[in-house]
Amino acid sequence: NDRENCSRGALIVVEGLDRSGKTSQSCKLLSYLDGQGYSVESWRFPDRSTCVGEMISSYLTNKSQLDDRTIHLLFSANRWEKRSLMESKLKKGITLIVDRYSYSGVAFSSAKGLDIEWCKAPEIGLLAPDLVLYLDIPSEKAAERGGYGGERYEQLEFQKEVAKRYQILQDTSWKIIDACLPIEDVEKQMKELVVDSIVTCQKGKPLSQLW
Ligand code: TYD
Repeated sequence: NDRENCSRGALIVVEGLDRSGKTSQSCKLLSYLDGQGYSVESWRFPDRSTCVGEMISSYLTNKSQLDDRTIHLLFSANRWEKRSLMESKLKKGITLIVDRYSYSGVAFSSAKGLDIEWCKAPEIGLLAPDLVLYLDIPSEKAAERGGYGGERYEQLEFQKEVAKRYQILQDTSWKIIDACLPIEDVEKQMKELVVDSIVTCQKGKPLSQLW
């Protein structure tokens, strides 16, 4: 029927410190929803496949140096270059599970000392998530988990600063998940929240914008 034809997908964002389990939980979520017959795609930021994404990747792996504000704006541009595709997918009824989004953008850059409002400004007008699943883990615990890789931000003291910024950014779209719980428990909580959010979007919740 008409109502089903125009029902949109949900924009679901998964956030958390490095090593909080975002990526593996996003994968589990994708296969669960897929198995349940939902139309769903998994996305991630930074999207390293674009030209902007290559610049970001080279910065993160310490192959290039960029001023803090410059890299901040590149991360934001990397979301902007995907905005229209994101909107058209959602309007087609596809739910997007997005690993990191504007909250990572602001949390990581402001943790370097940049003004938080300055960091938020370039995100204004991007699509607002319907649900943010924040995988909450103490920085020390995250660091213990198989250790960090060699990327620029994967250091304990810095991650602690990032965690503080994430706290400031919490809004009503956020659900905090205790990421120290057994994997299956985290998974179960996430599934329930996501299905609820998909249903709300199907019922006609309008898309909105940051911030
Ligand atoms: P990601 O590709 O998710 O790396 P990993 O799989 O190792 O977690 O993100 C790379 C790093 O980029 C991560 O430390 C967070 C940081 N980041 C920002 O600083 N700003 C942003 O806007 C985003 C999306 C990520």
